[in-house]
Amino acid sequence: MIEFKNISKHYTLKGQTLHALDQINLQIPEGSIFGIIGYSGAGKSTLIRLINLLERPTEGQIIIHQKDFTALDARALRQERASIGMIFQHFNLLQTKTVAANIEMPLKLLGYSKAEREKRLDELLEFIDLKNKKNAYPDELSGGQKQRVGIARALASHPRILLCDEATSALDPQTTKSVLALLKKINQEQNITIVMVTHEMDVIESICDYVAVMEQGKVIETGSTIDIFSQPQHPTTQNFIQTVLQQQLPVNILNKLADQHHNSIYCLQFLGKSAQETVIQAVIQQFDISLNILFANMTEINGTVIGQMFIQLLGDPAVVRQATEFLEQNGVKVEQSGESV
Ligand SMILES: Nc1ncnc2c1ncn2[C@@H]1O[C@H](COP(=O)(O)OP(=O)(O)O)[C@@H](O)[C@H]1O
Ligand SMILES: [Mg+2]
Repeated sequence: MIEFKNISKHYTLKGQTLHALDQINLQIPEGSIFGIIGYSGAGKSTLIRLINLLERPTEGQIIIHQKDFTALDARALRQERASIGMIFQHFNLLQTKTVAANIEMPLKLLGYSKAEREKRLDELLEFIDLKNKKNAYPDELSGGQKQRVGIARALASHPRILLCDEATSALDPQTTKSVLALLKKINQEQNITIVMVTHEMDVIESICDYVAVMEQGKVIETGSTIDIFSQPQHPTTQNFIQTVLQQQLPVNILNKLADQHHNSIYCLQFLGKSAQETVIQAVIQQFDISLNILFANMTEINGTVIGQMFIQLLGDPAVVRQATEFLEQNGVKVEQSGESV
């Protein structure tokens, strides 16, 4: 586990103090993929750099695998850092060195013999599927290939933790997908804890088990990804969710309903796919109202489906109310969605 205890980081610029991190308390479970999301300037990079103490906190402690990293001397810290790998948005490869030399670099610094380095290099090239690029230079690689090399370099010394700072932000969507799949594989097969800093909610949605939302140096909300997606509390979290889950009825559908009562539109949210059809069926059968499905979409998070459906309910207001209450009793989140028109 990685634990932040009352962590603050202040920078002083021209006599002004900037609170880059303000009283952070956070626990990152062993073996998880933990996402940290926030807008630019929220403090994400500062937070992730504290994990391997590339930066020192102004206050507080970083406890990793029960060890207080903030209390280690320089020598002990150097040793412990070998168990933490890091990858970056712009890959940070040495342009004048080959793929092989880039990957071997941390092993050289740790004093591995030539034979040990070559053995490990072969394993890593196999793992990232770039054996044929062993002697290529970074300039000859695509963005996705460069990040694979970055990943191999980060994994070279068998770390237990992998830190990723906007690791897919410079990549196109297709390449992002393949890099995320590789990170998931690393987490599952090698049980490496992954901390992912990102400003993109779909990165969180695709691979993170947990997420912390940051704003102005604070963690404003944290929990399992599924809980945060289904019950976002803070407006900033809701804004992020909105980038992947449609929260409003598409305008063209709304326009087609122009002469109807917009306050008859409801947005339903379902957790788990199976219940969805049954519950809607029950409403249609049990209540004397008309139910039109206007729009539906779904997203899957760690194997749980979050379904969203916009419906129109027309009929006696008292019966409509009973129907929405029935939906809520069956675990469906119901929101009237007409007011925004
Ligand atoms: N070395 C530094 N010196 C002064 N201010 C810094 C330094 N690093 C970061 N900051 C400030 O701390 C805040 C958080 O920055 P950062 O952690 O990079 O945010 P994020 O990664 O979420 O975009 C910003 O206001 C930034 O300008
Ligand atoms: Mg950053």
